[in-house]
Amino acid sequence: MMKGLEIKNICIERSGAEIVRNLSLEVPSGEVTVLLGPNGAGKSTLLDAISGVIPALEGEIFLDSQPLHNLNRLQRVNAGLSYVEQGRQIFSHLTVEQNIRAACDNQQLADAGMATTLSMFPELKKRLNTAAGMLSGGEQQMIVLARSIIKQPKVILIDELSLGLAPIIVSRFMPLLTELKQTGMAVLLVEQYANAALEIGDHAAVIVHGEKVLYEPCDGLKQDQQRLHNAYMGSH
Ligand SMILES: Nc1ncnc2c1ncn2[C@@H]1O[C@H](COP(=O)(O)OP(=O)(O)OP(=O)(O)O)[C@@H](O)[C@H]1O
Ligand SMILES: [Mg+2]
Repeated sequence: MMKGLEIKNICIERSGAEIVRNLSLEVPSGEVTVLLGPNGAGKSTLLDAISGVIPALEGEIFLDSQPLHNLNRLQRVNAGLSYVEQGRQIFSHLTVEQNIRAACDNQQLADAGMATTLSMFPELKKRLNTAAGMLSGGEQQMIVLARSIIKQPKVILIDELSLGLAPIIVSRFMPLLTELKQTGMAVLLVEQYANAALEIGDHAAVIVHGEKVLYEPCDGLKQDQQRLHNAYMGSH
């Protein structure tokens, strides 16, 4: 049995147009899998379909070998899937603690998850009762990440958490993803700062026009930027 997320031959349409074509990908537990590709390649569309925000036309999705593809979005969350959507925001008028707890409807689970979650974010722990809107952009993104792990999911899909953040703040985030994978989580990371993502990633997949054109260990790709560039340009 495969531990983690398995996507098999998935096809996704949006408004009648085929966006993702026959794509397969494994996102093993205990690894960060980096998903790269040019704007409009279909990265967010793929994550939307994995999480059940939109339906897939064809294909199968498994989490720890259990099928997810016939479940709705909430059922997938309950099966252990968490999705940090592109551009997700916090509730600025609620406190930091309220923001994080709002992601978990079960009080007991929230209490248990809160301690583990906060141990990862000392910046947030100090400011639990502050209105979230008062925090810096980077800290607000930490709230977004904290919300997404409070239920201690098996797999987390992260879409451009770094959007709008300075590179220095992005470099604060990347080690957090290493911490997550070390707890046994499977992490699928879409990231515009490819170099920062390759630093902490285990495998990287590149998709172009909805097709997977490359899948390799991050180590090799870090050394060979030209090949990454070529993949983007479609001359793999
Ligand atoms: N709601 C939608 N309805 C119709 N087409 C859509 C919709 N959302 C995205 N698309 C189209 O699907 C294709 C893939 O978009 P998607 O947002 O998945 O790409 P992406 O790889 O996440 O790009 P980016 O790096 O800019 O975030 C694009 O051609 C886009 O125009
Ligand atoms: Mg996107």
